[in-house]
Amino acid sequence: MTFEIENVSKTFVSNDDGEEVLALKDINLTIETGEFVSLVGPSGCGKTTLLRIIEGFENPTGGTIKDDGEIVTKPSNERGFIFQNYSLYPWLNVIDNVIFGLGINGKPEKESKKRAMEYLESVGLEDFAKRYPHELSGGMKQRVAIIRSLINDSKSILMDETFSALDIQTKHKLQNQIHKICKEQNKTIIFVTHDIDEAVFLSDKIVVLSRRPGTIKKIFEIKLEHPRNREDQEFKNLVSEIIQEIGELEED
Ligand SMILES: Nc1ncnc2c1ncn2[C@@H]1O[C@H](COP(=O)(O)OP(=O)(O)OP(=O)(O)O)[C@@H](O)[C@H]1O
Ligand SMILES: [Mg+2]
Repeated sequence: MTFEIENVSKTFVSNDDGEEVLALKDINLTIETGEFVSLVGPSGCGKTTLLRIIEGFENPTGGTIKDDGEIVTKPSNERGFIFQNYSLYPWLNVIDNVIFGLGINGKPEKESKKRAMEYLESVGLEDFAKRYPHELSGGMKQRVAIIRSLINDSKSILMDETFSALDIQTKHKLQNQIHKICKEQNKTIIFVTHDIDEAVFLSDKIVVLSRRPGTIKKIFEIKLEHPRNREDQEFKNLVSEIIQEIGELEED
């Protein structure tokens, strides 16, 4: 799935006093099928807003987003989305949350449950299949939300700080898993993160956004071979270079 982001701007108007906030300005970016692209930048620079516009939850106030040539105006099952605040359905247990989307798409329940259990096992949640969201920790809920999105055969997944609540072992495991799934299924991933190490580990491209109004400051192409090694000098240099780029924005 190819995304073409053309001259996208977004102005929010407050309901209270009509004051305008320019969140994004003139964003131009093409994301090819199967590419893993990370968006990084200071808090409040418009990363979530851009992701929501690409999904079709919000419309831009200027410019267009095209998904395989078609202008995006509303959400689609072809685009999976994992929110910053990973929302699960509180009235469904873990496994039913995971297979919810498959049911809508008419997949048989028994097969879906089998597949869901394999995914749950891979993140150490097999014993929690029958538990409800309120019985889980924050990181456990996040893992369920990730699996729910991975199990659906959407052509792309938009992920907003998806791994932020996880311990480092689980985070690394899921990073490997998401990379594998993305490359095997040629899924397009747009990934928002504050964790630069994570961005360098996973991405083909890292897009640095400036402070509000968010504009594209710099695009890093990450050509390191997979599996990537965090101990590599080249890896470490890239991480420092990108952190410095963002640091300059925060100091301005
Ligand atoms: N629904 C909304 N109504 C009004 N303003 C909004 C709305 N959503 C976002 N904004 C504003 O747009 C700007 C960008 O917000 P956004 O959530 O996209 O930032 P972000 O880069 O995701 O930040 P963070 O890293 O903290 O998650 C902020 O100034 C925010 O206040
Ligand atoms: Mg955000």
